[in-house]
Amino acid sequence: MTTFAGKAAASADKVRGGYYTPAPVARFLARWVREAGPRIVEPSCGDGRILRELAALGARAQGVELVAGEAVKARQFAPVDTENLFTWLANTEAADWDGVAGNPPYIRFGNWASDQREPALELMRRERLRPSRLTNAWVPFVVAATVLVRDGGRVGLVLPAELLQVGYAAQLRDFLLSRFSAITLLTFERLVFDGILQEVVLFCGVVGSGPARIRTVHLRDAEALADAELDVESAPALLHEKEKWTKYFLDPAAIRLLRTLKGSDTLTRLDSVADVDVGVVTGRNSFFTLTDAQARELALTPHCVPLVSRSAQLTGLVYDTDCRASDLAAGHRTWLLDAPRDPSDPALLAHIAAGEAAGVHRGYKCSIRTPWWGTPSLWIPDLFMLRQIHTAPRLTVNAAAATSTDTVHRLRLAPHVHSQIDACAVAAVFHNSATFAFAEIMGRSYGGGILELEPREAEQLPIPPPAYAGAELACDVDLLLKANEIDKALDLVDRQVLIDGLGWSPDVVAQCRSAWAALRARRTKRGSR
Ligand SMILES: C[S@@+](CC[C@H](N)C(=O)[O-])C[C@H]1O[C@@H](n2cnc3c(N)ncnc32)[C@H](O)[C@@H]1O
Repeated sequence: MTTFAGKAAASADKVRGGYYTPAPVARFLARWVREAGPRIVEPSCGDGRILRELAALGARAQGVELVAGEAVKARQFAPVDTENLFTWLANTEAADWDGVAGNPPYIRFGNWASDQREPALELMRRERLRPSRLTNAWVPFVVAATVLVRDGGRVGLVLPAELLQVGYAAQLRDFLLSRFSAITLLTFERLVFDGILQEVVLFCGVVGSGPARIRTVHLRDAEALADAELDVESAPALLHEKEKWTKYFLDPAAIRLLRTLKGSDTLTRLDSVADVDVGVVTGRNSFFTLTDAQARELALTPHCVPLVSRSAQLTGLVYDTDCRASDLAAGHRTWLLDAPRDPSDPALLAHIAAGEAAGVHRGYKCSIRTPWWGTPSLWIPDLFMLRQIHTAPRLTVNAAAATSTDTVHRLRLAPHVHSQIDACAVAAVFHNSATFAFAEIMGRSYGGGILELEPREAEQLPIPPPAYAGAELACDVDLLLKANEIDKALDLVDRQVLIDGLGWSPDVVAQCRSAWAALRARRTKRGSR
């Protein structure tokens, strides 16, 4: 029987819980927070690693811990109440403590017991934050820490690096900017928690009126905390800008420059010329996508449309019939099934029967559509864009009437520009140093160094007006990209579009290029062991 491989179930390791803080991190946080004064809360103290360090510094610390067995161990260092932090809060004075030092639990909404969760969400609502089903337990812990500490006091927390960029923490970022006068974020090149692939940041905030000034310190590993220099230049944050904090990894001058460029009218936004959408979500790629050899063998070619199924297929500025021919020959999945509602071709009927025998129709995505073999949202885009970026963003004209699966985004030129703007010009102007720097700031990156742009984020990317690119430039950029000469392609577009076209100085362009290079280097280097 033919089988059609599906996704593996999430491993139990993915459910993260009470991992404890390594000694160098506990020591650093205890020292930093202790400088504000002796009265310090450890809001989820576990077996007391941070309390031990605080005790060594003569602090009068107070621990809170949900699990009685852990609280008992921690009591050798400080008094510890066995309670849910969010009910404990009701019996303590707000804004009364010198500091909070801790490492809050990471619990997804769905795994979080509702009787423990509700008082936490209630605290968020009181602080005018709107929790959602994406809210993770660490978020209200940060809010609680902020509320507990007096003006001028310190909050030092181990937090997941997603604080910097995830959408569900956007409100929290704004809350922090308004409630702290200074925020230092420490990040690490190497993962600091053994056995856990989660990337963390140390959040060190001084409570006070905002908007906070933000500085970032990038360290090799936890050992480097012992002599970390925190007194580096900071940049003022802007309130209500709903942006990610990735940009604070740049120096303040570069942040100022990118803010100015974004606000200037020399650049337009990608969504002024095109809509960005995800590729086709088939529900089971191994059934719906085929190599050329498979399509021929199964006699399914008449029921298929050309397909781009891998990022690596977008080698240049234009995906044309030559590119497709080499993809066909290379054995990529280059055909997408486009079966009619009432199939009669025996070859197609046989493929559908094989799918049913293998249970493809019972997979979630297939089971909720009729007929299950219909390929949803099948349309042919004007351009493709990389969704996951390793080296550099890429926008490629679709000159092969292909569609894509959801590894690659699909773009449609906006109806009002369709007759006036050439897709090649849009793709050509996109490949410049400023747009690439904004992609690093506006996208999100996870461990493994990949930058991901969601359609909404991609649509907001600032780009130069496409009118600044002609056919000759597009042709040259295509050749350079296909030769993997990304820097030379950028040099060309930077010179012809940003400098000669928009009138930017070579110095401004060079700063954009180095901002892109710095953010990319940080992204690709971090998250290793
Ligand atoms: C990531 S561990 C960190 C422990 C310790 N702070 C450290 O740094 O090693 C999180 C701790 O939070 C505790 N916890 C979970 N929910 C809690 C709650 N609602 N109130 C207080 N503690 C909680 C867990 O039992 C666990 O010990």
